[in-house]
Amino acid sequence: MKKILIILTFATIAFSCADKKAKTPGVDGRKVFKQNCVVCHGLDGKLGANGSKDLTESKMSLDERKAIIKNGKGAMVGLGTLLSADQIQAVAEYTLKLK
Ligand code: HEC
Repeated sequence: MKKILIILTFATIAFSCADKKAKTPGVDGRKVFKQNCVVCHGLDGKLGANGSKDLTESKMSLDERKAIIKNGKGAMVGLGTLLSADQIQAVAEYTLKLK
């Protein structure tokens, strides 16, 4: 009986660790984009409202995108106070995938 309990305890610990690992990326870049960016950039990134750039044509690197999302540029407001670093990372990666 004791042995079973010990095995169960280890199994639970191992399981909860694996679960945590899977959740670390956590933030859904697409969701962040939908909530914060589509008004100007559109769902597909091509809208170009308010003088915004077509994101599918952008040649910017991930770091440049993160900086613009955080600090803003021209008519684009910086979202650094609204979004967490993880959210900025996730949404910047998402814009790189837009086609
Ligand atoms: C209020 C409208 C507005 C919102 C909201 C907005 N943007 Fe922008 N965005 C702009 C404008 C305008 C520019 C062009 C800035 C310039 O070059 O003067 C731009 C430029 C960019 C660029 C640079 C593209 C390039 O190659 O020049 C990226 C990347 C970007 N936006 C991503 C985002 C993301 C991601 C979000 C949401 C987190 C977002 N934007 C929200 C208006 C907006």
